Amino acid sequence: MDRKILIVGNWKMNLNVSQASILVHRLDQKIKIHKGVEMVLAPSTLCLQPVSMEIDRRKFRLSAQDAYYKDEGAYTGEVSFTMLRDMVSYCIIGHSERRLYFNETLETVRDKVSAAVRNEITPIVCIGETKTERTAGETKTVIHDQLITAFANLTSNEIENIVIAYEPVWAISTFGGEIAKPNDVQEIINFIRDQIKHLFGPIVAQRVRVLYGGSVSDQTVGTYLNLSGCDGALVGAASLNCYKFTGIIDVASKVHQTRLKIS
Ligand code: 13P
Repeated sequence: MDRKILIVGNWKMNLNVSQASILVHRLDQKIKIHKGVEMVLAPSTLCLQPVSMEIDRRKFRLSAQDAYYKDEGAYTGEVSFTMLRDMVSYCIIGHSERRLYFNETLETVRDKVSAAVRNEITPIVCIGETKTERTAGETKTVIHDQLITAFANLTSNEIENIVIAYEPVWAISTFGGEIAKPNDVQEIINFIRDQIKHLFGPIVAQRVRVLYGGSVSDQTVGTYLNLSGCDGALVGAASLNCYKFTGIIDVASKVHQTRLKIS
């Protein structure tokens, strides 16, 4: 398997413009161009423009963390995918923090996914269960509902280019930060691909990229990247630390080299 490993750093609501600039500068010094790893930074909306001027585009691509699903109009405070389309390659959509703190519904996520695709921005669609849902044995139902609604308005061709990030809420560092067991993550990655296969066919299921997110560090990333069908990681806290993020990229690069040797 020789497709690139995708590592996305979600900075969340951290770093002002000058702090973001310092981190970009440090990352640029420490990280070289990796042929086998696609590196994506997701700063706050405010920092996207300055960061876009500062990054070395041979190394990094940009992602937004959210955007509004209408293209323009009287929606005070919002930024649309249309406004972002020339600046970012990706947009994180439906992150659990947005679902839980900002009451984003399944339908809002669906509309944002459609808006991103309409504006030629690749959605990174976040799905995942809470601790309560897992304990109640509802994980697969939750994942199924999140997937099916998110993609309701897309064609199979559009879905194969999308990125799905499985982030169990209980594994996110700020929500408890339990380290998810590799077997549990493998089970859900398999389930996600099975669902996509069932709904949109085997080619889409094979082409769609699936990431893992939740307390990913340089210590744990290798285990997750070695799971079958795992295409990369969505990294929160560790992406704010130059050394930790660089460590994650180094591991990803090694995993990619091993995959090349095996294939
Ligand atoms: P942590 O890596 O801090 O657990 O965050 C994960 C996440 O929410 C990335 O989107």
